[in-house]
Amino acid sequence: MNTIPTPKEPALVQIAQWIFDPVRYMSKNFQKYGDLFQAYVSWGSSDPLLMVSEPKAMQYMLTHDTTKQLTAPGDVNSILEPLIGRQNLILLSGKEHRRRRQLVMPPFHGERLQAYGEIIQQITQQVIAEWSTEEPVNVRNAMQKMTMRVILQAVFGLYEGERYNRLETLLSQRLNMTGSPLGAVLLFLPWLRKDFGAWSPGGRIRQIAEETDRLLFEEIRERRANPDPNRVDILSLLLMAEDEAGHGLTDQDLRDELMTLLTAGHETTATALTWAMYWIHSLPEVKEKLLAELDQVSNPNDPSSFLKLSYLNAVCNETLRIHPVAMLTFPRRVEEPIELCGYQLEPGILIMGSIYLLHQREDLYPEPQQFRPERFLERQFSPYEFMPFGGGVRRCVGAALAQYEMKIILGTILSTLDLELLNQKPVAPTRRGITLGQNAQIWIQKIGQHSPQMAVPS
Ligand code: HEM
Repeated sequence: MNTIPTPKEPALVQIAQWIFDPVRYMSKNFQKYGDLFQAYVSWGSSDPLLMVSEPKAMQYMLTHDTTKQLTAPGDVNSILEPLIGRQNLILLSGKEHRRRRQLVMPPFHGERLQAYGEIIQQITQQVIAEWSTEEPVNVRNAMQKMTMRVILQAVFGLYEGERYNRLETLLSQRLNMTGSPLGAVLLFLPWLRKDFGAWSPGGRIRQIAEETDRLLFEEIRERRANPDPNRVDILSLLLMAEDEAGHGLTDQDLRDELMTLLTAGHETTATALTWAMYWIHSLPEVKEKLLAELDQVSNPNDPSSFLKLSYLNAVCNETLRIHPVAMLTFPRRVEEPIELCGYQLEPGILIMGSIYLLHQREDLYPEPQQFRPERFLERQFSPYEFMPFGGGVRRCVGAALAQYEMKIILGTILSTLDLELLNQKPVAPTRRGITLGQNAQIWIQKIGQHSPQMAVPS
């Protein structure tokens, strides 16, 4: 059996390359070693793990991740513990993980999801009502504002008030701290997070975490004291949930799950929306086709009308393909010897799917660096060829909500306003925390209005 290809650079050099230029790190090693290679990406342990990007291998990995051969352990994701705590979907494993998913999934599907459509459109209209022809708009800040409001409402049912405003500020500050490539070092190298006083990064993270926790625990206590069976937000549902023995979730469980959903649910979608706005406004033919499709919508005030549009869907997919916000799946662990891509893998080995490399494969996506939504109209990709939300037992719980948000927010903005991109230079992908963001701020300017008849709620 072949020996697993291993980059020659020392582990520390590889970790630095992975932190500061993950796209180059993955592409370079893919070119040298192909579909599967060993990588030092410092994910919770100092051991290397395997990075795989071949669709059949991805399929095997994600369809066997609860079998005797492979598992999807949560403890290996401890790199995220400082952000989201321990008692949550991402860090739980096995039976506990399955049970928690059953609790958390329903609000992200079906009717519940549809109810969010109107909220998403209202939030979008409120935010864009503040845009003027005088002042450029920072796209990331605007998108973050929208997705934060959506997730705070969906998760907590929180609409306004002091606690809501403070949480919004604190969560943004906390994510911004690890948002730059340099800040991401704080996540990957835990000793840098040590608290050396109020002005050190570790001290600042602790202060923000303490205040966030205080607000979250206050909200949990108040809601426990005043249960309202009519509420459908995720916190209300989790408060009512019990296991077979009749035990509910503790305050700590609830806090950790809420932090997970707030963290995973807002920045990822904001980054994807920022990329979408960038591509649409830098490629005139894409914008033209999209506007032509939006023109056919008879009632742009009905958010569900954006969900069926095929070109808008293709634009969203191509955005998530070319720069997948989550570059990797969470790790899966080999439990029994298996063969993958012609290599024998022994128990204990961790494998991560490289979504980025999968989405850059020439054999699936000719000219992969080109933003071309038409590829999603010309052919169908299997869930193991196009997988922005991963797969298997850890497939993103927010996938449907994120796609909903992308379509409704983009559809609403584009059918209301005429905008111009102000960036002169191309924007490239770079690390933002554990996600793939932009290497520069993206600025747009309002130059006109398409549909003044659209109501803007106050
Ligand atoms: C464009 C936006 C998003 C992208 C690209 C994305 C991508 C991903 C990916 C790739 C995974 C790992 C799947 C795997 O290992 O197979 C994941 C997991 C997860 N995502 Fe998302 N996500 C997005 C939005 C959201 C939203 C809106 C939420 C919540 C409201 C969310 C919550 C989660 C959670 C809780 C997990 C862990 C699931 C588990 O371990 O069982 N994500 N996401």
